[in-house]
Amino acid sequence: MSHPKVIKVKGFSVITLEKNDKIYAWYSGCPHKRRPLDEAEIDGDTVICPFHGAVFSLITGDMLKPPQSKTPCEGCKLIRVNLEGEPTFEIDPFPVSLPHRK
Ligand code: FES
Repeated sequence: MSHPKVIKVKGFSVITLEKNDKIYAWYSGCPHKRRPLDEAEIDGDTVICPFHGAVFSLITGDMLKPPQSKTPCEGCKLIRVNLEGEPTFEIDPFPVSLPHRK
């Protein structure tokens, strides 16, 4: 396990995975509760959200394991970032935030 390689694209954190001479890039935001993934664990080709344990593929962006939370994550997927030429986000990144302290 390791931490993701994080780069900045247009001011947003982006997680990258290099595999077979290809770079996969994803907005560093968990779509479940919009938490940052900068400190997440990387396990092979997957990223594990540190907040509720959802697992996402860094190849396809698909959620491979749902969060351990009462709040479901329907249709959750990472936001793909295209780094060729002028970088673009597949959809607009949402703002991430840390949980409020109780
Ligand atoms: S915020 Fe990522 S799994 Fe809940």
